[in-house]
Amino acid sequence: MEYHVLTLFPEMIQNTVNTSITGRAVKSGKISLHTVNIRDFADNKHMRVDDYPYGGGAGMVMQAEPVWRAYESVRENSRAAKKGKRPRCIYLTPQGKVFHQTMVEELALEEELVFLCGHYEGIDERVLEEVVTDYVSIGDYVLTGGELAACVMIDAISRFVPGVLSNEESAQFESMQDNLLEYPHYTRPEIWHGKQVPQVLLTGAHGKVEAWRREKSIERTKERRPDLLQKNRPLTVAYFSPTDGTKKAAEILAACLTQSPRMLDLTRRRNRKQEMVFTEKELLLAAAPVYAGQLPETEPGLFTNLRGNHTPCIVMAAYGNRRYDDTLAQMKAVLSARGFVCIGAAAPVIPHIFSEKLGQGRPDEKDREAIKRFAVEIKKRIEQAEEHGFQEIPLPGAPDPAPKEIKPVKKSFDREQCTNCQACVQKCPVNAISMETLAIDERVCINCMRCVKICKAGARSFDASATALHLESLYLQPREAEFF
Ligand SMILES: Cc1cc2nc3c(=O)[nH]c(=O)nc-3n(C[C@H](O)[C@H](O)[C@H](O)COP(=O)(O)O)c2cc1C
Ligand code: SF4
Ligand code: SF4
Repeated sequence: MEYHVLTLFPEMIQNTVNTSITGRAVKSGKISLHTVNIRDFADNKHMRVDDYPYGGGAGMVMQAEPVWRAYESVRENSRAAKKGKRPRCIYLTPQGKVFHQTMVEELALEEELVFLCGHYEGIDERVLEEVVTDYVSIGDYVLTGGELAACVMIDAISRFVPGVLSNEESAQFESMQDNLLEYPHYTRPEIWHGKQVPQVLLTGAHGKVEAWRREKSIERTKERRPDLLQKNRPLTVAYFSPTDGTKKAAEILAACLTQSPRMLDLTRRRNRKQEMVFTEKELLLAAAPVYAGQLPETEPGLFTNLRGNHTPCIVMAAYGNRRYDDTLAQMKAVLSARGFVCIGAAAPVIPHIFSEKLGQGRPDEKDREAIKRFAVEIKKRIEQAEEHGFQEIPLPGAPDPAPKEIKPVKKSFDREQCTNCQACVQKCPVNAISMETLAIDERVCINCMRCVKICKAGARSFDASATALHLESLYLQPREAEFF
């Protein structure tokens, strides 16, 4: 991340940013700081950059020309200019949009940011119109200049730049994440001023400590910032994923949205039979793999046991680099009919179970970056919806396609190797394996290959070499993950 700050007091910015964690990040090259003294661009021998306001009134106004020239000196050499664009330029002003966590995460995705710090009564409106892309306020109060506000923003944004915080620092529960405040902290000594550290923290029981922290965090938010609690939206990830590819992609997106998603594994038959009701204050991520361009056929149908109440949902169709065809539209139709509002959709590429070449290593770094951007977009949509309500998004494909027949894949079973542990019987998502004979009923089997993957004895295998050859001859070129 490159920061450029246009200011009359560069030392104020340099001293602050080059200290502590941001200072460490500058030294290690994770962020860079370039300050530009607007006064260096004055066009008079006294180096004045301000003048009296037209129309009279108190105070002075910064002139347009020196600000323009200072901005141009940055813009000309910016990364954005090389792509024929203007860099994102933030003007710190109490008239701006109030800085908050989603904005932090969104700005952290940029490669470079320009901050413009005003002084006196402000800056000539005409130059602001030409250079500023974002008007931002750090709170409803007035400062003597924009420098401290720029430092606040740089500090908050840098925490989200990869590598700025150590793993240990960034893995911590964050105040503001999930719209919850942090739980209280304690360190040695165990008793101070007669006050004992809460007993649960001394037990070493990780699960109990986590539960206590979550409870305290909710309690504290209720007490100190009830307005935030109103915005807290628990996320449930309802996924079908026989060989875990879809699950991994869903987990990546979930981790960008919340610290503590509830995972609902619909690969388990029992979980598909239980009706689950969601309120309008929740968020659902429904994820499934693509089978022949559609949702896998299960009994009862995927996601049909979920009931929303104007609950926003994101649908994810994970696919093996061929095509996802109708899957997203189908998922949206199933969920819309059950009280959900589809506010976003993702089609990431994952490894294809029938090929060692298609989708291997996906989601990769580039996919993760794209998923992160999508998560920020979803957070923005949710914030906007607090005012205007949720908007259902249009998706490609047929919402109710005619079912396609999938040719059975050749499977082998080595009875000698089998320990009769019954794992495949229990974990087959569609109950296609006989408990007594361990034979597969091909009329029921959906060819998901879960039984092969989970058999620890190596008693089951499949041969999809012909399918793999065919797919690889047509779909080897890696496809980009898509987001709506
Ligand atoms: C029966 C079957 C049909 C599939 N059809 C498609 C398809 O049409 N397009 C595609 O890109 N991937 C297809 N795949 C690959 C899956 O979408 C996915 O890559 C993976 O095999 C299953 O995901 P999971 O690991 O979450 O179980 C198919 C996989 C199976 C088992
Ligand atoms: S999981 Fe493997 S070992 Fe266990 S019953 Fe099935 S085939 Fe046999
Ligand atoms: S029997 Fe068929 S449906 Fe069941 S786990 Fe095996 S491949 Fe999947």
